[in-house]
Amino acid sequence: MSVMAVVGAQWGDEGKGKLIDELSARADYVVRYQGGGNAGHRVVYGDTEFAFHLVPAGILHPNVACVIGNGVVVDPRGLLAEMESLGQLGVDMSKLYISERAHVVMPYHAVLDRLEEESRGVEKIGTVLRGIGPAYVDKYSRVGIRMADLLDVDQFRAKLATVLAQKNRMITQIYNQQPLSLEEIHTEYVGYAQRLRPYITDTEARLHKAMTSGASILLEGAQGALLDVDFGTYPFVTSSSTVAGNASTGAGLPPRSIQHVLGVYKAYITRVGSGPMPTELFEGEGKALRDAGHEYGTTTGRARRCGWFDAVVGRFVARLNGFDSVAIMKLDVLDGFSTVKICTSYKLGDRELTTPPANTSELAACEPVYEEWPGWMTSTVGVTRWEDLPAKAQRYLQRVEELLETPLALISTGPGRGETIHRRELAL
Ligand code: IMP
Repeated sequence: MSVMAVVGAQWGDEGKGKLIDELSARADYVVRYQGGGNAGHRVVYGDTEFAFHLVPAGILHPNVACVIGNGVVVDPRGLLAEMESLGQLGVDMSKLYISERAHVVMPYHAVLDRLEEESRGVEKIGTVLRGIGPAYVDKYSRVGIRMADLLDVDQFRAKLATVLAQKNRMITQIYNQQPLSLEEIHTEYVGYAQRLRPYITDTEARLHKAMTSGASILLEGAQGALLDVDFGTYPFVTSSSTVAGNASTGAGLPPRSIQHVLGVYKAYITRVGSGPMPTELFEGEGKALRDAGHEYGTTTGRARRCGWFDAVVGRFVARLNGFDSVAIMKLDVLDGFSTVKICTSYKLGDRELTTPPANTSELAACEPVYEEWPGWMTSTVGVTRWEDLPAKAQRYLQRVEELLETPLALISTGPGRGETIHRRELAL
């Protein structure tokens, strides 16, 4: 038996999709444990590029069963569209399982996400407008609708009537917008329930059985630790707990079952949406990084903000998650830079900080202190052996490893399956 959690270590978009796809070859189950359709994982296989939002990226492997865990919030319309487009690409959906306990993203969640964002004005978070925040609010307010409710037509109608009355009061009285129709939502969602019924099940029992019979289970994180609702750059965060500590709760597996936590970083850093990012670069180097790394969102197409590797937040996240090893993705994106920089501390007034301040305005005022490393100025695309990396790239990676205080296990040198250096063996 082995259970491994794969966790994003920056502001999301680290390349977890590619890794999950590769690691799935050794797994029996891949489980998403938090987030929703706000996530976007891109996987390149052969000539085809697959975009995942809710379905675990492991689905591309015919022998792997995939679970959307209880900690995920599921928009059935988005999920069905994703399942359909994967099906059209020849992907088998028969081994997808959705937790009965997963909460449902309803039309009023997306409406409120947009209205709340608009009302924030310049303070806006830059959410992906998929209703994720409002869905988690309802979960914790105990008015959420879960997959199990959706399957019980009468109970669903009663719950929906109560919650929709409350939401319509907000929509009409606070935001002066038109109310949503109970009949329309009910009919639409009963239709989704019928189509999703074969996939909705007691995933916790299934995973428990798999675990006790020795299966290998991969827990797939979405977003990244710097968007975690507790430890991220609050309030510019997502509404779920993205860190390894939640992998157990969100999948329904005991904490002690997780034997290995793999942290996924990019060789630089990116962010979408608002909020502080101390190593952000603008014109020139920022644009060069964005172009070289094709840094545009899988979910929204938005241009990502780009910057140098930030080892201050990097180490903070490694400690919080207790990473057993780390993966550094997209090394090849740095190939054309004559100098590469690593932020090793922040200057805040006359203070030097080696951990990020909790106060977000203070973090926004932090100036990065950089170490400069000579660039390797040669292609690393597709390199699969550590010995074949240019010495300067090896030195850069060794320095990152040292600053993160965690062994470097994997280095990605291209988007395709196999364009990966396995420097250390993983337990899975
Ligand atoms: P929300 O998750 O839609 O509420 O958005 C909150 C913040 O998280 C915004 O800054 C989003 O851009 C960011 N975010 C949400 N999902 C992802 C993701 O999968 N990758 C990167 N950023 C994300």
